[in-house]
Amino acid sequence: MPSPLLALLLDRIRAAGPITVAQYVDEALYHEEFGYYARARQRSGRDGDFFTSVDLGPMFGELLEAQFEEMWRVMSGDGAVGEPAPDARFDLVEAAAGHGRLARDVLDRAAARASGFYRAVRLHLVERSALARAGQAETLGPHAQRLATGSAELPAGVRGVIYANELLDALAPHLVVMRDGGLREVYVDAGDDRLVTREGPPSSPRIEEYLTTVGARLEPGWFAEVNLAAADWIRTAGSCLDRGFLVIIDYGHEASRLYSSSHSTGTLTTYRRHVSEHRDEGPGWLMDPGERDITCHVDLTGIALAGREAGLQLLGVVDQTYFLLGLGLAERLLEDGSDAPLAVKRRLALKTLLLPGGIGSTHKVMVFAKALQCQTLRGLSLGGRVT
Ligand SMILES: C[S@@+](CC[C@H](N)C(=O)[O-])C[C@H]1O[C@@H](n2cnc3c(N)ncnc32)[C@H](O)[C@@H]1O
Repeated sequence: MPSPLLALLLDRIRAAGPITVAQYVDEALYHEEFGYYARARQRSGRDGDFFTSVDLGPMFGELLEAQFEEMWRVMSGDGAVGEPAPDARFDLVEAAAGHGRLARDVLDRAAARASGFYRAVRLHLVERSALARAGQAETLGPHAQRLATGSAELPAGVRGVIYANELLDALAPHLVVMRDGGLREVYVDAGDDRLVTREGPPSSPRIEEYLTTVGARLEPGWFAEVNLAAADWIRTAGSCLDRGFLVIIDYGHEASRLYSSSHSTGTLTTYRRHVSEHRDEGPGWLMDPGERDITCHVDLTGIALAGREAGLQLLGVVDQTYFLLGLGLAERLLEDGSDAPLAVKRRLALKTLLLPGGIGSTHKVMVFAKALQCQTLRGLSLGGRVT
């Protein structure tokens, strides 16, 4: 039985012609009725298709809280560095917020410390899935009154921090391949009863411009993703931010590595039940649209450049492990050495965040600032190592 979205896409392509991979992925993930993220409130975790740092428990959010609290201090002129311009409010804007789990962890910690930071927070949750948005107030529980907006769009005039964990890897990329005759784009076309790929000229001059700007030189036969949507999102975030910070957490590489022989087959992939799939009849991401996650690695160079264009200053890029160590991950590990099940569970989660080669090395943290004099932050204090 073809999935309803497969039938719909086959009809659409037969009527109007092939679509770009970017259009295909956008439909597969976000089609209002049949899209992967539209159909479930939560997709990650043990019972889902992939894990994010949020699935490891509240520690990730608790550590991030230390960073956001410092940012609030810096902006209030109460930190080590900062302008003496006390802000009455602090916008805490989470993008790709799902049903609010990470925000809940951050606010639980802030509330437990009874800090001025907690009282200053105006929470904004930005999430494209309507089903996930509908669950936010319930997840936030006692913090629901802090929720100023819950929307699919970033709010304007932000004074505080915009942060996103694993948003950019879930935005729909164009897929290109270099041939002897020049750059070609991969399109999705209709086969007899399934979707197939077909090559054609690039759908937009922006694709080649992007590759030139980030210094990518593809060899014949190399495939690569060009995520214009990710760069556009950064520009939008930059213009929505009046004053404050933008924190991006995601897996990716500098362009010199992403667009190199080590990634010459591209990074577009699909996860289902924690397994990445490729089938003989075609790429896994083309199978069962709407039923599986589709993701690709983030180009950190393109993101940094988009940030600069949007008037953002890049304060640093570090492995997530170093970011969290700067925020006290090691100290948290030593905090409660008891054998109580909860303490053991917390230590295991902290170790998973810390282990080399795991989520802490694959994931990078990029911190930008706007309209602020800020030289350093705790999360960036251990230096700029990126593995
Ligand atoms: C990989 S999940 C990550 C969820 C969560 N941040 C976490 O770490 O567990 C990506 C999420 O981004 C959401 N999303 C995609 N595009 C978005 C956009 N433009 N604005 C806000 N959320 C978006 C999806 O609906 C999905 O919930």
